[in-house]
Amino acid sequence: MTQENTLLAQYAHGSLLNTIEKALPDLGKTKTNLSISDLAAADEFHIGGRTASEHLFKQVELNSASKVLDIGCGLGGPARFVATKYACEVTGIDLTEEFIDTGNVLSDWVGLSKQVNLFHGSALNMPFAPASFSGAYMLHVGMNISDKTSLFSEVARVLQPQSVFAVYDVMRDKSGELSYPVPWANNSDESFLATATQYVNSLQSAGFEVLGLNSRRDFALNFFEQTAQQNRENGGPPPLSLHNIILADARLKFQNLASNIVNQLVGPVEIIARKL
Ligand SMILES: C[S@@+](CC[C@H](N)C(=O)[O-])C[C@H]1O[C@@H](n2cnc3c(N)ncnc32)[C@H](O)[C@@H]1O
Repeated sequence: MTQENTLLAQYAHGSLLNTIEKALPDLGKTKTNLSISDLAAADEFHIGGRTASEHLFKQVELNSASKVLDIGCGLGGPARFVATKYACEVTGIDLTEEFIDTGNVLSDWVGLSKQVNLFHGSALNMPFAPASFSGAYMLHVGMNISDKTSLFSEVARVLQPQSVFAVYDVMRDKSGELSYPVPWANNSDESFLATATQYVNSLQSAGFEVLGLNSRRDFALNFFEQTAQQNRENGGPPPLSLHNIILADARLKFQNLASNIVNQLVGPVEIIARKL
């Protein structure tokens, strides 16, 4: 299997839209009175969900004139959040076609389909003209892509000079065997972790300057602890959460991720960069 085919198998669900639709009555919602907050526990597919997005985007200057690109947008939760927060247009691209099809329906349900457009395609070869965007971000995607310099060069190609590029990925800390499966890979052959230093070097080679870098380890550990406590108190996860999106071994994948972070093998990191 190619890297991209393996990835498709990793994220494939088969009946994602139906699963989300079926969970709405348990949330006390319908397609017509749903908000982006109702979807956040399921459509923000990264450590810390909406809270993590809020933290990242506080560091990024965008406004209603911005044209923003979401690389590896998944179901588009971060894209709908950014479109709502800044009243701007967001374009997303993702390799998993089912995420794109489902995400565009979700945007329609919450009244954002004019502002948020999600496209099926590869981040390594995007169907966008040079300098199409004035801002970009990528949340928990780099772990699936081996060649970070090619990825960041492609991002640089579609950005205007001086545009901000925000990254929030799980990065390698010390070397050692990780516990698998994790939410982005079933085994080490499918996982392409890099250190924060490697990210910085790749960003610089691709024509970015790095403005800031923050470890989100403590935030992640608190998030996992709080989520586990809430699940214990409520007898399981909420009606709509990442457990509905990840078909196989969701609980084990998050347990392994948490223990890999506790063991300081990996940790989530934010990098804020600007295209020169
Ligand atoms: C963990 S999910 C994160 C989704 C989204 N960024 C979020 O935070 O909600 C990783 C996503 O990266 C996408 N992805 C991985 N490699 C990709 C590539 N080469 N091109 C486009 N999307 C990719 C996957 O399909 C998946 O939707």
